[in-house]
Parts: sequence; C-alpha cells; structure tokens
Amino acid sequence: MITVKTEEQIELMRKAGKVTGDVLRLIGSEIKEGMTTKDLDRIAYEYIKSFGGEPSFLGYSGYPASICASIDETVVHGIPSDDVVIRNGQIVSIDVGVVLNGWQGDAARTFMVGDVSEEKKKLVKVTQECFFKAVENLKDGTPMGDIGYAVQTHAESNGFSVVRALVGHGIGREMHEDPSVPNYGRKGTGIRLKKGMVIAIEPMINAGVYQVDFMSDGWGVKTRDRKPSAHYENTVAITADGVEILTL
Ligand code: MF3
Ligand code: CO
Repeated sequence: MITVKTEEQIELMRKAGKVTGDVLRLIGSEIKEGMTTKDLDRIAYEYIKSFGGEPSFLGYSGYPASICASIDETVVHGIPSDDVVIRNGQIVSIDVGVVLNGWQGDAARTFMVGDVSEEKKKLVKVTQECFFKAVENLKDGTPMGDIGYAVQTHAESNGFSVVRALVGHGIGREMHEDPSVPNYGRKGTGIRLKKGMVIAIEPMINAGVYQVDFMSDGWGVKTRDRKPSAHYENTVAITADGVEILTL
C-alpha cells in the first residue's frame, strides 16, 4: 500500500531527513585512512542519539549497526567492524537511516579516501549524477519508469551498469514502504507518482557487470566481478511541480 503524506507529516520527515543528511556530512568530514568502519558507526550512533533520534538500521531484521559501510566491490550492506581498516585509494559507501519522532530518513553517499583511481572518481561522480538526473523532471504525475530510465541511461552511457537485485523504496513511518523504485526501466511505464508520496531513490552503480553476489554473513552484497560499486541515496518528497530532497 502506497501512503501519501500530509504537509504536517512531510514537515516531520524534513526534520528526520535533516539529521540523516547531517550524519553523512559529519562522516564525510571525519573519514580518513587508518580509521575502521566501526569508528564511523560509533560517530553516527552518537550523533543520531544526541538529537533524540534512533538509528533505524540497528536491530532491523537483526542488523547489528547504525550504518552500512561498503568498501570498493561491496555494493551495499557492509557491516561495520573493528577489523575493517579504511585504506588509501578506497571508495566507501555509507548508508544511514534515522527515525525521529516516528518518521524515517534514509540516505547514502560514497566517499573517496586519499588518492583514488580515475575510474573510481568517475564512478562516484556518475552515480551521484544518476540521482540528480532521476529527480530533474520528477513531479506529480511522473511515471515510476522515468526514474529508472534516467538512472540507467546515464550509467550505461558512461560505460557502467545498474544493479537490478536491489531497488529504492517508499519511506515514511517505516523505512521500507511501497512502492519499489528500480534504477532501471522504461520511460512512461509503471505507477504515476503523486504529490505527497515520499520515496528513497538510491542508484547502485557498478564499474563492471551488474550482477551481484550475496555474502554468507547474510548482509554484504558484492559485485560478481569484484570491480568497484558506488551508492548515492536521498529521501525525496514529490510536490505539485517538482520534488523536495529531504536528506541533502
Ligand atoms: N538503507 C538501506 C536501504 O536503502 C537499508 C539498509 S538495511 C539495514 O534500503 F538493515 F541495514 F537496515
Ligand atoms: Co534506502
């Protein structure tokens, strides 16, 4: 069931979204080679708690942390660990969810650590651009397929591929609500988005093949060819004439 939010509810989601975006800014300013992914998880946990929020990932289907920290060939859902040290040249995707006063924010960024290869730089840039291409013409009445079409066209025209096995999602009181928001698709197809719907748009773009493998820890997802992958996500409210990005 797709829920449409009132202006009052969107105002609450704006507040949750602000904390979500701010956690990622903080992590972006702190991340350095030599830190562990667990260090970043602690920073996120403390920051979210200091605003009276809850990290929505912690305990979600038994997930053991406040963020996902996914390095290089890990697409998403890397579990933070004291044993995972961040190294020069890596790209690190950080995904975080915040629940504040009962409303959710969900966002992700991919950070470049030290001297990264030209290929990784391009991958990170194109992945972020995929998100902004998707929201460019989005408004009340836009078919869902236009989002996937925009992401896929931009990724593939740059020689990259779009992960199919994981998709974006509606968001509100729950982190994952209807509808699914694929990063691939055909223009003019699917349900029409409506003013008041709130969705997480989250391109996951691979440097090589689109196929992924699910790791035996039950969470981690890696590219099948073990080439790098990037992730960029924001929580977005549909308005009458455009969108409002709640987690920037
Ligand atoms: N933020 C992810 C998403 O966009 C979900 C993370 S899975 C969790 O769907 F278990 F860590 F919460
Ligand atoms: Co999400």
